[in-house]
Amino acid sequence: MSARETFLPYCRPAIGEEEVAAVRRALLNGWLTTGPQTAAFEQAFARACGVPHAVALNSCTAGLHLVFAALGIGAGDEVVMPSLTFAAGAQCAIELGAQPVLCDVEPDTFAASLRTIAPLVTTRTKAIVTMPYAGRPLGIAEIVDFARKRSIAVVEDAAHGAGTLDRGQWPGALSDAAVYSFYATKNLTTGEGGMLVTNDRSLAERVRLLSLHGMSRDAWQRYSNGGSWRYDVVEPGYKYNMSDVLASIGLVQLERLPALQGRRADLAARYSAGLTDLPGLRYQRPSEHRDDRHSWCMYAVVVDPAIARVGRDELIERLHRRNVGTSVHYIPTHAFTAYRHLTGGPLPNTELIAQQILSLPLYPEMTDGDVGDVLEALRWALQTKPILIA
Ligand SMILES: Cc1ncc(COP(=O)(O)O)c(C=O)c1O
Repeated sequence: MSARETFLPYCRPAIGEEEVAAVRRALLNGWLTTGPQTAAFEQAFARACGVPHAVALNSCTAGLHLVFAALGIGAGDEVVMPSLTFAAGAQCAIELGAQPVLCDVEPDTFAASLRTIAPLVTTRTKAIVTMPYAGRPLGIAEIVDFARKRSIAVVEDAAHGAGTLDRGQWPGALSDAAVYSFYATKNLTTGEGGMLVTNDRSLAERVRLLSLHGMSRDAWQRYSNGGSWRYDVVEPGYKYNMSDVLASIGLVQLERLPALQGRRADLAARYSAGLTDLPGLRYQRPSEHRDDRHSWCMYAVVVDPAIARVGRDELIERLHRRNVGTSVHYIPTHAFTAYRHLTGGPLPNTELIAQQILSLPLYPEMTDGDVGDVLEALRWALQTKPILIA
């Protein structure tokens, strides 16, 4: 068995001539910053989600920060969120003076559930942040129902959620708000970017206001024909708006999403079929609901070293030797120096998964042969005897 000749990266954005042409048009239309392309992207995204309000931003992190601020989260408040996610949510809560409370995840979905969230809810809990890991729907309705009865907000960190259907609905359809990421590794990318979606008009308006310095008029309303130069700063805000150049990429990517997502699903199915005869490796439990859809933003596997006879870190090294790139999602929040002091529930599943998980290459331009190479490299890596260095 020989290694691939070229390196297979963990991720590669699906950018083609259509995106290049859209950027060219956006660069030449005399606008560049937040303007008509951004407005069109917001409308198209809201329509696709089936949610009335969408606000385009320069990142998902910005959206989490703004939605927490718009919900009035601040000193003395607690926000329950999984530790096994990107640390942006914890960072944003802390920026506003609130306390992140870290909860565990389920061993088979790698996502938080009502079972892991509910015991951490107190009278100080102002919001629950959920994160459909890799885009696997987690049954948001049950969590929203629990939270509504207690007047607690539910914010979906839908960084992986473009393409996810939870009982037939996009993230943001049931919760108070969802925030998508268009970072370079995501299903729908603009390089950097984010989108907040919500059914709540006043929440959307407040997020929009805060996203541009708290100004009463954006550039579109000031510089377009019929606009006025006058504006007020209603309250101190932030500078989190999306540019038209990036929105033009987003519009094309949104149109391509069904095809891109379909290809991801095909590749994921190939991985899942191939992994059945690789001992010691397991993947996310498929969702059993017929209206659910996994977005396959990532394909994560957990390696049990007792069966596989190799640990995760060594497996990553061996795959690299076979020219296969991988990544790890995530180093849990509580493991970072900056967040070690945070408290929450017991995190046994998070601790174990964090030591055993790795993400395999998954992106629409991969060929079936590439998946075969990864499976072959895994087979080789599991059979290879440890190299003893004298
Ligand atoms: C789960 C999760 N949440 C939030 C973010 C932050 O997204 P952004 O880079 O758009 O701020 C990421 C980014 O990778 C993520 O994976």
